[in-house]
Amino acid sequence: MVSGARISQVPAFTIMSETRLAQPGDIVAIASDHAGLELKTALSTELIKLGYKPLDLGTNTPDSVDYPDYGHALAKAILDKKAKAGVAICGTGIGISIAANRHPGIRAGLVHDENTARMSREHNDANVIAMGARVISAEVAKKLLKTFFETEFGGGRHGPRVAKLG
Ligand code: RB5
Repeated sequence: MVSGARISQVPAFTIMSETRLAQPGDIVAIASDHAGLELKTALSTELIKLGYKPLDLGTNTPDSVDYPDYGHALAKAILDKKAKAGVAICGTGIGISIAANRHPGIRAGLVHDENTARMSREHNDANVIAMGARVISAEVAKKLLKTFFETEFGGGRHGPRVAKLG
């Protein structure tokens, strides 16, 4: 906290910053297969609006690719500390989240509405948000992205449960 400043003078971000998944200015990895390419472009712009720096891991052409390659690359970027968190997109969000979740330390939450976006952070301390470009609209996906990054992990009874995920 700024020395001598009253609480009312301190921006909300300063107070909340300790427990968020990522801070404004942090790098957030984003990856998709061909089915998620268009949504990836939209969500990269959204990440910038939210104050993050997107690390685009592809794919960047409409050519058919294999979603595991992008899920694994996303997980590796986070585990190698090149990014604080991740956004994973494929047609359903299922395949790319399965790939990312095969890496210990990665908790990819496949979300499709406000509740699952919030709970993936509050209860599961998800560090990757996964979405299906053929399941939800870009408008919904943008809202879920915001909710995900604004929601803190609840801690308490959820701590030991998340620890058991490995
Ligand atoms: C690609 O056609 C599709 O299978 C992929 O995007 C994803 O939905 C897999 O889970």
